[in-house]
Amino acid sequence: MRILTGIQASGKPHLGNILGAIMPAVSLSRKPENESFLFIADLHTLTSLKDGDAIRSNTLAIAAAWLAFDFDTDRNFFYRQSKLAPYHTELMWYLNCFTPFPMLANAHSFKDKSSKLADVNAGLFTYPVLQAADILLYDAEIIPVGKDQRQHIEMTRDIANSVNNLTNKEIFVLPKAQINEDVMTIPGIDGQKMSKSLNNYIDIFLPEKDLLKQIKKIVTDTTALEEPKNPEEDITFKLYQLVATPTQTQEMRNRYLAGGYGYGHAKQDLFDALIQYFKEAREKFDYYQANPKIIEEKLAIGEEKVKPIAEKTIARIRDVFKF
Ligand code: ADP
Ligand code: TRP
Repeated sequence: MRILTGIQASGKPHLGNILGAIMPAVSLSRKPENESFLFIADLHTLTSLKDGDAIRSNTLAIAAAWLAFDFDTDRNFFYRQSKLAPYHTELMWYLNCFTPFPMLANAHSFKDKSSKLADVNAGLFTYPVLQAADILLYDAEIIPVGKDQRQHIEMTRDIANSVNNLTNKEIFVLPKAQINEDVMTIPGIDGQKMSKSLNNYIDIFLPEKDLLKQIKKIVTDTTALEEPKNPEEDITFKLYQLVATPTQTQEMRNRYLAGGYGYGHAKQDLFDALIQYFKEAREKFDYYQANPKIIEEKLAIGEEKVKPIAEKTIARIRDVFKF
């Protein structure tokens, strides 16, 4: 199967990206029957971030995160979308002309972002069409993403279907989203969806002291230390569950229910569990961050490797319109 997923370079990789996208995608890429296209969606990033230095440093951090979780770049495809911009944007134009305006106007993600952001640009509006181009350009079949991306993959299928119907040919492969229901939406420190744009994220690659500081900021209710607490309603517990063993989770649940266990204790236990769970990844991430040349080399090789695939798709679609 051909797997494909992208992450924007709009910030540093956080726990939500890692559990929701990076780890599931790397684990799929290890199966011998799969080949994976994992890329940095840096063109998409421009919808929200215009600072080139920041885009570059975020790109290196996201790439280091893929590598920290052992993505095998020799066997797969690893690239920056911007380095293939002529193909992605050309295909996007064709797809734009098959995208009904109301489909974009009603997209959850657009409605959500446009109500919150000061800069509501046309790029934000046509964002799902560029995403569709990212996917269709490489004939991807499976798209591992977080729950918030489900609608974008459905839109991609709809757009691809319109082109296939028009031509009565299988110009595009129809992709499927793969959403890990266990992980679903990782809550941020304020209980809303963890997100770079909400500034409520946990960056597991921070030095220990800073990571602990972030964890201490997790919002809790005001139940006193001695009182029993409801684990299912608590953000610290929800996050702990994701990285602790089932036995550890059960132990923490019992402590919440018994009382005499404060949120400060729970946060310290969450910190220990995160450090334990991500020990190796943290070391590898630091190594790649200290050696950006190695990252750049791997990306440059990946960019050469995907080019012929992109060229072939573009040739196929140009042929439809006799361009
Ligand atoms: P952000 O929302 O922080 O800007 P992105 O939109 O760049 O993150 O998301 C990159 C990938 O990580 C996507 O597949 C997305 O679904 C996943 N992801 C992001 N935040 C979460 C979260 N809180 N829970 C689960 N998956 C997430
Ligand atoms: N829109 C995705 C996000 O914000 C990132 C992305 C861009 C993507 N192109 C993609 C994800 C193609 C999957 C496939 O999370």
